[in-house]
Amino acid sequence: MAEMKCVGVIGAGQMGSGIAQLAATSGLEVWLMDADRDALSRATAAISSSVKRFVSKGLISKEVGDDAMHRLRLTSNLEDLCSADIIVEAIVESEDIKKKLFKDLDGIAKSSAILASNTSSISITRLASATKRPSQVIGMHFMNPPPIMKLVEIIRGADTSEETFIATKALAERFGKTTVCSQDYAGFVVNRILMPMINEAFHTLYTGVATKEDIDSGMKHGTNHPMGPLELADLIGLDVCLSVMKVLHEGLGDSKYAPCPLLVQYVDAGRFGRKRGVGVYDYRKATQKLSPRL
Ligand code: NAI
Repeated sequence: MAEMKCVGVIGAGQMGSGIAQLAATSGLEVWLMDADRDALSRATAAISSSVKRFVSKGLISKEVGDDAMHRLRLTSNLEDLCSADIIVEAIVESEDIKKKLFKDLDGIAKSSAILASNTSSISITRLASATKRPSQVIGMHFMNPPPIMKLVEIIRGADTSEETFIATKALAERFGKTTVCSQDYAGFVVNRILMPMINEAFHTLYTGVATKEDIDSGMKHGTNHPMGPLELADLIGLDVCLSVMKVLHEGLGDSKYAPCPLLVQYVDAGRFGRKRGVGVYDYRKATQKLSPRL
C-alpha cells in the first residue's frame, strides 16, 4: 500500500480531536468531520491550545505546530473525506449509528481507503459487515487523550487483510505509538480488563465501602495508578463506560460484567463526567481538588 498522505477523522469530540491533532502534527493532511458545527469549533480551540502546549514544552517545534494547524481542515460534509487514504471513525459508541456511518462511508471513500474505528468495544467484524470492503476495515483504538497516551490497540476483524493491518500499524507507529494487536472479542484487551475494574469501583462506592475520594486515593497510592478509577471514569465519560460494560455483558454472556446500578443511574441523570461538568465528581466547583487532566 502506498504511503498515507491524507487522514479523515469523523467525530470531533475528545477522541476525534486528539486523533486529528496527532495526524496533523505527524505531517499528514487531515479532514476532521463532525455533524455538529459547535463540536468542530470546540475541537479547533482544543487542538490549537494543545499544540501550543506541545510547542511551549519543546515536544514539537513551532514550525511543526504551525504547519499542523494549516493542514487541518474542518467539515460537516462527509463527502469531503473522499480523498482520505484512511478514515478513523470516533463518533458516539452506538453500534447502529456506527454501522450506518460505515455503510455511508463505503459509498464515499476511495476504493483503496481503509475504514478504521476507534470504538472502545463494538465488534469490528459487525461494523465491517455494513460495508463491501470488510478486508479494509479495522479497529484503531487510541487511548485518552490520544496526543499523550502511548498505546494504540489494533483490532483485526474476521476478514481484515494483512495489508490493512500492516498499513494501520505503520500509521500508529508514525504517530509515535506503541501498538498491541487484539482479536475481535468484546472489550478487546485494554477495556476487557480496565472497565470491570472501573465498574467494581462503582460497586465499592454504591455499597458504601468507602468514599469516592478514598477509593481513588486507595488505587492511586496503593497500586501506583496515576488516576483513581472513578476520576478515570469521569475522564473517559460515564456514558462511554456504561456502553462498554453493556457490550462486555452481552458479548461475553457473563453476569460478572453487569453494569453497576450507580453507573447506570449517573448516566440516566446526564452525569457523563468531565465533558458535562459533573460525573462522580463535580467539576463546576472550583475548590474541588482533583488530579490534573493528563
Ligand atoms: P464524544 O462524545 O466526546 O464525541 C463524539 C462526537 O461525535 C461528537 O462531537 C458528536 O457530535 C459526533 N458525532 C456523533 N454522531 C455523529 C455522526 N453520525 N456523524 C458525525 N459526527 C457524529 O465521544 P468520545 O469520548 O470522543 O468517543 C468517541 C469514540 O471513541 C467512541 O466510540 C468511544 O467509545 C471511543 N473511545 C473513547 C475513549 C474515551 O476515553 N472517551 C477512549 C477510547 C475510545
